[in-house]
Amino acid sequence: MMTISDIKSLKGTRKITMLTAYDYPTAVLVDKAGIDIVLVGDSLANVVLGLDSTTKVGMPEMLHHAKAVTRAVTRALVVGDMPYEAYQAYPNDALKNAERFIKEAGCSAVKLEWFDTCPEVTERIIQAGIPVMGHIGLTPQTADKLGGFKVQGKDAEAAKRLIEEAVLLEKLGCFSIVLECVPDKIAKIITEKLTIPTIGCGAGKYCDGQVLVIHDILGLFDRYTPKFVKKYIDLSPVILKALEEYKNEVISGSFPGPEHSFSIKEEELKKLIS
Ligand code: KIV
Repeated sequence: MMTISDIKSLKGTRKITMLTAYDYPTAVLVDKAGIDIVLVGDSLANVVLGLDSTTKVGMPEMLHHAKAVTRAVTRALVVGDMPYEAYQAYPNDALKNAERFIKEAGCSAVKLEWFDTCPEVTERIIQAGIPVMGHIGLTPQTADKLGGFKVQGKDAEAAKRLIEEAVLLEKLGCFSIVLECVPDKIAKIITEKLTIPTIGCGAGKYCDGQVLVIHDILGLFDRYTPKFVKKYIDLSPVILKALEEYKNEVISGSFPGPEHSFSIKEEELKKLIS
């Protein structure tokens, strides 16, 4: 089982791999593939629940899915993504909700996106003994305040702010930080400045690791695809073909065949009929 110190010690040794998962069968595959960190992301809202904003999922949904993932994972570190309502809407509930990810869902850490009172909330959770992964740059829960889903840190002043946030999160005790939609050279500066690993999501090759949403890399979400996503396979047409074949075989009567059916002995059938 990957531990927090295993993840930290990978910095400078080899790149860290991280993917999202939201259900049992997918988490089994991600874990089998040897991915280091499984994030039960609040991107659940978009790619699984069909909602238009990550702020629309709450603790019940996140815990429900996190439990399915921890049932499946035997090796990777599982991180629960704190939904908006769990800490930004009600900062006083943040610690209680972080504890629920650990105690009820079996996660090993939580992830928080940067917001106004992020340092205070992060510190409270870490001091209670819960490992925290930070998340700066494009923070989807507060994308409206950032002017939409745009690259962050593009001018010197904004980049300086990102560097300061990263340094502060490390100082507060975060074990790693996601950098989302940040210019690669800014991600490089942050990565070199910190002793904890940076995990890039649209932040270029210099980060200590990479994270993507699993539905994006498998071609299972077509509402929009960010520039930084690489689609490793396009599963949607493969699945669609199988579903159409099933439909056609049921309609034509070629499924189920004898190999998918159960039989009863002739004599038993005769007894019944007579
Ligand atoms: O919710 C999520 O999937 C995330 C990753 C993209 C970092 O926060």
